[in-house]
Amino acid sequence: MPSKVSCLYLLTVVCWASALWYLSISRPTSTYVGHMSVPIRKTVKKVNNNITFTNIRTRPLNPHAFEFVINEEKKCETVTPFLVILISTTHKEFDARQAIRETWGDESTFSEVHILTIFLLGRNTDNVLNQMVEQESQIFHDIVVENFIDSYHNLTLKTMMGMRWVATFCPKAQYVMKTDSDIFVNMDNLIYKLLKPTTKPRRRYFTGYVINGGPIRDMRSKWYMSRDLYPESKYPPFCSGTGYVFSADVADLIYKTSLHTRLLHLEDVYVGLCLRKLGIHPYQNSGFNHWKMAYSLCRYRRVITVHQISPEEMHRIWNDMSSKKHLRC
Ligand SMILES: *[C@@H]1O[C@H](CO)[C@@H](O)[C@H](O)[C@H]1NC(C)=O
Ligand SMILES: *[C@@H]1O[C@H](CO)[C@@H](O)[C@H](O)[C@H]1NC(C)=O
Repeated sequence: MPSKVSCLYLLTVVCWASALWYLSISRPTSTYVGHMSVPIRKTVKKVNNNITFTNIRTRPLNPHAFEFVINEEKKCETVTPFLVILISTTHKEFDARQAIRETWGDESTFSEVHILTIFLLGRNTDNVLNQMVEQESQIFHDIVVENFIDSYHNLTLKTMMGMRWVATFCPKAQYVMKTDSDIFVNMDNLIYKLLKPTTKPRRRYFTGYVINGGPIRDMRSKWYMSRDLYPESKYPPFCSGTGYVFSADVADLIYKTSLHTRLLHLEDVYVGLCLRKLGIHPYQNSGFNHWKMAYSLCRYRRVITVHQISPEEMHRIWNDMSSKKHLRC
């Protein structure tokens, strides 16, 4: 009996000791390669009783400690998509998602290239909405959710979830587009004019509507940025979050860089900060319109994205463009 007790006691001590050992190990801070949670053995010698200090200094700034609660892990097991489209969306936008599925996001439109359409969401504070999205996911299998609270302020987390998803579950895809649910995308132009499936795949490539701007300090603005969060007077060049496209290798690079980059709620600015750290320069492409543009067949034939399109407009535009393919401008 006493031997059993002391054995248990010993086990507890060993457990505790290894937990402490794990906690006190320095995490890598400047290297983006390899799995971030794997401790580096070299640094074990540095362990002392000064645990608090070591931890504060070396823990990732922005650990993204969320879990996928709805996932599509196997989407890329059988096919390697040419293009993964990540669409930032909110729970109530059921009709916007459906409009995209039935129009430009329809994966079966192109027979010679594989397109994958994925909707990104967080968790809603209203559980009924979570359940509705779960049911929608069981029907369409195109929804990915992590367990952060879904809010405008958390948009950056949604984008980082998308980067993580591509890096983890679809690393062989060639290109990725990140866009919003109120955007019309001219897929013909995106695929054949910009990405050109028959040409050599690019690496470290990033394009969209490039903005060279600085923080807005007016608190009433939707894009307000405090001096505390971002003291510099200029942002690095960034692509408007309404739609940007990149080679899939960049997803992993951005996700890993983000773990060491202080979070900002403006997702497009934040992606720009990660790109600067990576030394990747976004290419300007004026086909990415981040403003609303009245519909005309010829005008819409020239663009890649148009902003502020309602689900009804999306159907109307898509039907018009599809039925008039033979017309010249
Ligand atoms: C903890 O370690 C740091 C750096 O090694 C040192 O500056 C600091 O004084 C230490 N604190 C204590 C309480 O030992
Ligand atoms: C963002 O998500 C985190 C993690 O779920 C949550 O703690 C935080 O309250 C959210 N922020 C906002 C503004 O909703």
